[in-house]
Amino acid sequence: MAYYILSIDQGTTSSRSILFDLQGNIVHVEQQEFEQYFPEDGRVEHKPDDIWQSVLNTTKAVVEKIDAKQDKVIAIGIANQRETTLVWDRKTGEPIYNAIVWQDRRTSVMCEGLKALGKEEMIRRKTGLLIDPYFSATKISWILNEVPGAKERAHRGELVFGTVDSYLLWKLTGGEEHRTDATNASRTMLFNIHTQTWDDELLELFDISKAMLPEVMDSSDYFGVCESHYLGYGVPILGVAGDQQAALFGQTCFREGMAKSTYGTGCFMMLNTGKNALVSENRLLSTVAYRLNGVPTYALEGSIFVAGATIQWLRDGLQLIKKAGESESLAKQTSLEHGVYMVPAFTGLGAPYWDPNARGAIFGLTRDTGIKEIVTAGLQSVCFQTKDLQKAMEADGERPDVLRVDGGMVANGWLMQFLSDILGATVDRSTVSETTALGVAYLAGLKAGVFESLEALEKNWQCEVRYTPAMTKEKRDGFYKDWCKSVRKVQSQ
Ligand code: G3P
Repeated sequence: MAYYILSIDQGTTSSRSILFDLQGNIVHVEQQEFEQYFPEDGRVEHKPDDIWQSVLNTTKAVVEKIDAKQDKVIAIGIANQRETTLVWDRKTGEPIYNAIVWQDRRTSVMCEGLKALGKEEMIRRKTGLLIDPYFSATKISWILNEVPGAKERAHRGELVFGTVDSYLLWKLTGGEEHRTDATNASRTMLFNIHTQTWDDELLELFDISKAMLPEVMDSSDYFGVCESHYLGYGVPILGVAGDQQAALFGQTCFREGMAKSTYGTGCFMMLNTGKNALVSENRLLSTVAYRLNGVPTYALEGSIFVAGATIQWLRDGLQLIKKAGESESLAKQTSLEHGVYMVPAFTGLGAPYWDPNARGAIFGLTRDTGIKEIVTAGLQSVCFQTKDLQKAMEADGERPDVLRVDGGMVANGWLMQFLSDILGATVDRSTVSETTALGVAYLAGLKAGVFESLEALEKNWQCEVRYTPAMTKEKRDGFYKDWCKSVRKVQSQ
């Protein structure tokens, strides 16, 4: 008889279900991509049923790989794309609109209005966030204002809101539980991260009734039971976290000053600030890293909206490459002095610029610029953006000298070396690549009593490759200066 923990990693472009053994090793992985909808410039949506079906298909498929007679899944953990907003009917479970994805910019005018009303400081003080369409609050408002009858239905208590974790919990528990965890709540712009409660003043500002909101739990907690018809028997859901926080946990960045950066669709760098919610003076976010036994640990976060998506665009949009992996060999053939800079502000710029109206551009093109220079510039943009975040953290007095990295792009060794060179910092790639899923497996396993303590988990972390800076400071500063010049040219004001 063998026991497993099932992690569901519901990301922006695909859902993954991963079985871990009780030592935290990956046993089986299933993944399914789903469709992205771009109904207008700056709008990004998912069909709720696509999200749900991809989760269902991958969980069923992964569990079929183990011996149903002998083996058992004892706990489930859920990690999810954060901020993405769903509103559904409390009785029927039917969403009243598509999921509005975190990248969606449709509420930028509403955000401008809030800034003009002078709300930025109050919102930042309470939520640790800056006013931007990225977060859930303005997306909920948009749905309630734009879907006919939604406002009235919400006031009558007929509608509920949730980020993707809540929606999946609702579905998996057959509509029994309407819950979320503190990390996901901290991304809504409705949650006071200091008092750990939904904030009445913010709810009033956005005209959202508290009855719509999920109950906020610890990240390692009892969230409910996954109904028995899904896996053949009921399984408790014991860990939930936003995917970036889950990666921080999976990277065992449990001590103050430890940092990770995840290169998925976007790139998210997080630094553990311990029991203090540090207020950034440099346009970074303060957020809940995880909450255990009612006690929040905080993190400083830099969020970049487009990282891996650049390579996806080079592959699927421009069709310059056939596979993402080709970018590495092209970059290796390219001189670093090619002079091309790509600013992939497809959906505006995130931290530290927060400019939803900026749009992407490529600079420095000459007659001899070719595919390899453009692809290399796309890769480098990911490193320069990380440098922007490192600079902002440094200005806040928190320079990470060692960065633990994960996500699809870290398989690219050229990219990791350039990252280390540009940051002037050590970059550690861990042996487990699925750190997001591992993070929620850890959270679920802690609640189940499978894992003893954070100290025990720390011992599991292993470095696969360490990259150290090999570029001169002069060169690094020169490249970065040109990058900053390029960014200034795409900014909307
Ligand atoms: O905040 C958005 C983030 O959670 C999305 O992560 O991995 O789906 O790009 P990912």
